[in-house]
Amino acid sequence: MPVSSLPIRPGLEGETPYGAPELDVPVRLNVNESPYAPSGAIIADIADAVARAASGLNRYPDRDFPALRQALADYLAVESSARLGADQIWAANGSNEVMLHLLQAFGGPGRACLSLTPTYSMYPEYARDTLTEYVTIPRREDFTIDVDATAAVIAERQPAVLITASPNNPTGTALPLAAARALLEAARGNGPTAADGSPTDCVVVIDEAYAEFRRPGVPSALELLESNPHLAVSRTMSKAFGAAGLRLGYLAASRELVDMLRVVRLPYHLSAITQAAALAALAHREELMGQVASLREERDCLVAWLRSQGLTAHESDANFVLFGPFADRHRVWQDLLDDGVLIRVVGPEGFLRASVGTPEEMAAFRAALTKALSGARAVGPDPQEPA
Ligand SMILES: Cc1ncc(COP(=O)(O)O)c(C=O)c1O
Repeated sequence: MPVSSLPIRPGLEGETPYGAPELDVPVRLNVNESPYAPSGAIIADIADAVARAASGLNRYPDRDFPALRQALADYLAVESSARLGADQIWAANGSNEVMLHLLQAFGGPGRACLSLTPTYSMYPEYARDTLTEYVTIPRREDFTIDVDATAAVIAERQPAVLITASPNNPTGTALPLAAARALLEAARGNGPTAADGSPTDCVVVIDEAYAEFRRPGVPSALELLESNPHLAVSRTMSKAFGAAGLRLGYLAASRELVDMLRVVRLPYHLSAITQAAALAALAHREELMGQVASLREERDCLVAWLRSQGLTAHESDANFVLFGPFADRHRVWQDLLDDGVLIRVVGPEGFLRASVGTPEEMAAFRAALTKALSGARAVGPDPQEPA
């Protein structure tokens, strides 16, 4: 006797909605948001822009939003020296929707999406929702990618999409450019066979949601776009721009790839209000990038402090740090929560992830963890991990 008489699609039975616990506590370090609320100047500009957009809400928004795409291309030119046309940019309601568009356009029944674990837990959901098979390859012990092993699986499985985050969530690991080049090379001609029997390229998606937090000298895969029409680099305004509530994600790719995404998007998916608010926020990029610089410093201090406590803290190019190991990570998580500090139980067994907050929030985190460590005993650093 089925639990429900509703015809839930096979594969969705028993599934629960994705999401970290939303708890109203003083220090929220669980979903890698910016801890800095928008300044008065940003709020005023967004309010003006939204008021202007509101006067035209009887009309549908600009379906292809060229002004926003141009502003995003201009931003990437400054942030990563990438010279891209507006028609090489795509955007949607968060990079989650951008990546769903990628799977809608390139995945599907009989096709596979490859990913490198541990990684962002939404990737299997994009695959599930598009009836694409999700295939994982474990990362090495230090969370880097075994390029040869990945190339072998690409050759064998001929996936439609390879998706990997750089910096990776929850580990903070960036993908070196040489490894990205090797993956792109392996993907060439190794996508699924087209209906007419001709070979295709596997689409390589590099999810750079946290790219702005990378350390000096760590490159962006945007540099590889020119020579790789099968590459898509995904970005978001949710993290570095301090605009998670805006829901604006975007990607950069070849014109050909972007045009294929335009086929699967819902008409008018990006509201006039979102477009107006995103344009207004982008104009404040310098102020926001100043915050990113201080978060980076705070992150490096956090890694050093965690190590000084005898813990393993993984190198991070993002705005969070994965640390442990703990004999009972749930207990440590609960101890911190009891002190008003919310972090995330995610990643390899024994490890926890904390987002980087303001100096005051990090002081509260350190105090709570010190207290938790004096109660719950850490099992000490894994001898195989770098100190
Ligand atoms: C690796 C990664 N990609 C994408 C996202 C989604 O971001 P958005 O808010 O743009 O949908 C996140 C959010 O935490 C993430 O960690």
